Amino acid sequence: MPESHYDTDGITAAAAMLSAAGYAVALTGAGLSVESGIPSFRGPNGLWTRYGPPGNLSYRVFTRDPQDWWERRLRDEITPGNPTYDLKDAVDNAAPNPGHRAIADLERAGILKATITQNVDDLHGRAGSRSVLEIHGNRNYLRCIGCGRRRPRAEFVITDVPPVCPQCGGVIKPDTVMFGEPIPRATLDACFAEVQRCDVMLLVGTSGTVNPAAQFPLLARERGAKIIEVNPAPTHLTDAAHVVVTGAAGEMLSQIVASLRRRPDDAG
Ligand code: APR
Repeated sequence: MPESHYDTDGITAAAAMLSAAGYAVALTGAGLSVESGIPSFRGPNGLWTRYGPPGNLSYRVFTRDPQDWWERRLRDEITPGNPTYDLKDAVDNAAPNPGHRAIADLERAGILKATITQNVDDLHGRAGSRSVLEIHGNRNYLRCIGCGRRRPRAEFVITDVPPVCPQCGGVIKPDTVMFGEPIPRATLDACFAEVQRCDVMLLVGTSGTVNPAAQFPLLARERGAKIIEVNPAPTHLTDAAHVVVTGAAGEMLSQIVASLRRRPDDAG
C-alpha cells in the first residue's frame, strides 16, 4: 500500500475544529472543481496562466457595446482556442467530485451552515448543497442589468443580440460576474452576514486573490473565527489559517468527513 499522501495532522485538527464549531461556513474556489476537470484560473494549468488574465474593465467593455460583446461571446463559445470555449467545454462536461460531496455531507451533518463559492459551475448545487451563495454568479443563468431578474439560460432563446429583458427592456448578460462589475447587492450582503456569523471558516481551493471574497477569511479571523485552509499549495491566505490541510480537496475533505464520523460525539 503506497504511503498515504494525507496531511493526517491537518485532517485531524480540521475535523476537531469543525466538530467544535457552532456555525461553520465554507469559502470555495476554482481548485475545488479542478478534480471535476475544470481548469483553475491561476497556477500551472490555469486559464489566465494560459491565455492571460482578463482586464479589470470587462464589465465596462460589455456595457459600452453589449451587441459587439454578445456577438463575440456567441462566437467564442463555439470556437476552440479561447478561455470562454475551454471553460464552457469543461463545465458542460463536469460532474461534482468527492470534494463537492464532502461539502454537502458537512452541510447535511449540520456542521456547515453555508457555502460561499466563487465558482460559477453549479457543482455545489448538483452535489446536494442547499445553502450556497454564488458570489460570482452561476453560468447556467442570465441576468438583466436593468431590473436584476435572473433566468435559466436554457429557458431563454437568444434571437437578437444583445438579448433584452421581456419585463423591463434592460440588457441581459450572463449571470457570471465580470471583472469591474458590482456583485449583486443581495448576494454580497448575504455573504457578509455569513462572515459575521461564522466561528469557523473552511477555505477550499482558492488562491485568495480576488476581492471581496479574499477579505472574508481575514474579516472572520479578526472577529475571532478559526480558519482552516485546504489546498495543495500555499496561498495568500495560508498565513491567516489556524489549520492548513495540504492536499487536493477531494481527498482531504473526504478524509475530514471520515475523521468526523469516527469521532464518538459527532453527527454525520
Ligand atoms: N484541490 C484544492 N485546491 C486546488 C486543487 C485541488 N485539487 N488544485 C488547485 N488548487 C488550488 C490552487 O493551489 C490555487 O490556490 O486552487 C486555487 C485556485 O486559485 P485560482 O485559480 O486563483 O481560483 P480562485 O481563487 O477561485 O479565483 C478567484 O478569480 O478570475 C477570478 O472569477 C474568477 O472566481 C475566480 C476568482
